Amino acid sequence: MLAYGDRDPARFHVPGHKGGYGADPKLREHLSDALKYDIPRDMHGIDVGPYPTPADEAELLAAESFGARQTWFLTNGATQGNHALAIALAPLGARVIVQRNSHGSVVDGMVLSGGLPAFVSPHVDHDLQIAHGVLPEDLERAFADNPEAEAVFIVSPTYYGTCADVAALAEIAHKHGVPLLVDQSWGSHFGRHPEVPGDALQLGADAMLTSIHKTAGSFTQSAMLHVAESAFINPDMVDRAVRLVRSTSPNGLLLTSLDAARRNLTVNGEALLGDTLAAIDKLVDKIDLIPGLYVAGMDLRGHTGVHDTDPLRIVVDTRDTGQSGFALAEFIRERHDVIAELATDTVVVFVAGIAEDPVNLDRLYAALVDAADHAESHREPATPIDSRETFNLDQVVSPRVAFLAASEVVPVGDSIGRVCGEAVSVYPPGIPALLPGELISEEIIDYLERQVKQGARLHGASDKAFRTIHVLPKDLARSHAQ
Ligand SMILES: Cc1ncc(COP(=O)(O)O)c(C=O)c1O
Repeated sequence: MLAYGDRDPARFHVPGHKGGYGADPKLREHLSDALKYDIPRDMHGIDVGPYPTPADEAELLAAESFGARQTWFLTNGATQGNHALAIALAPLGARVIVQRNSHGSVVDGMVLSGGLPAFVSPHVDHDLQIAHGVLPEDLERAFADNPEAEAVFIVSPTYYGTCADVAALAEIAHKHGVPLLVDQSWGSHFGRHPEVPGDALQLGADAMLTSIHKTAGSFTQSAMLHVAESAFINPDMVDRAVRLVRSTSPNGLLLTSLDAARRNLTVNGEALLGDTLAAIDKLVDKIDLIPGLYVAGMDLRGHTGVHDTDPLRIVVDTRDTGQSGFALAEFIRERHDVIAELATDTVVVFVAGIAEDPVNLDRLYAALVDAADHAESHREPATPIDSRETFNLDQVVSPRVAFLAASEVVPVGDSIGRVCGEAVSVYPPGIPALLPGELISEEIIDYLERQVKQGARLHGASDKAFRTIHVLPKDLARSHAQ
């Protein structure tokens, strides 16, 4: 890719920006190199030529680095990987076990595939009001209730960096003769340093997603899907599914950045992580000394549902300051231009990458000191918000039918007892509170109305103000009931 861009050929092919000449001058001024290297598929010396072409080699090297039988580069994020896995392993009418707080793209994948999710709840930490991993005994129970299940979809780590006991879950799935698919989107760096959790493939999973852009330095929207050398999964089925959900014009910059991130992780990952983790250790010790603030990360290890934690995730509990995570995140954004990944009522979550600029870690510390000081003089009466991540709603119609069938739009107040026709997530963290095919309860409507009133954003909802919602007509709901 670099050689093609640097030798500056006469480009009589797409894209129409022609490596820069055809682009808007402002774009050229700021992104001239990016335009030069933005090269499409079907190019000699890149992905055309004797096997393995450089493009093949990039995926082969990634597979080797992640210990996979096969790796696919994805240009529509881990979202695309979940869609592909659902199409490959949760085909039409197949029952699969799915962690209820999975990313929305898992059930969206089942809208595409026609698979039937049987949900297993994660363990919920009622103190911090966050959900952790699925417990092995809960997976066993899910198999007892769904002996016909053909695959298990779990997420580890969660948005908060807590990891499930993947080895135990893999053993259970394999005992039942089915693959364990781990959405490790937040853990591209796992297994690259003794102090970070092991990666899911090493722990026995059959497929693993790494959203490389999140922590490992590739461009936004780039990710990888890895399949293990396993008797429980057929890579040809996955390959077919990836092709279905892939553009015919994948962005060359994203692909190149995946190859570069793989190289950096493989060659420099351990050293970079060593420096970053040492700096984070010091930062965490200092944050713990700020009155009212406390970093939840490491101490969660060993709690129910927390087999391990990701040290790159700095989860700051704000409750003792008398301010919510939302308020604190907003304060440091406005006053210090320090931007958190996620805030909830109880915590603010900061995500470090494999290499973190020490100057910015100092800025984060200074911002937190100021925020805690400010909180001291502006204590608010605690207004506990129910920021739950999972509700036990009944899935009465398949996600595919509920999403694709003609729906009715009704005021949310009239939707109780009806079958939902859309996915509604509270963002962040983007985990669906309500899924297509679920029976709408009074509790979930109350919850979502409260969230909207408090300023939360709803993702996926057809009416962002949550005044109306799509539901299935009653006769359709009856005729498609599972
Ligand atoms: C657990 C999980 N899986 C998948 C995704 C989707 O990843 P991407 O944004 O790379 O499509 C996310 C996004 O935040 C996620 O948190």
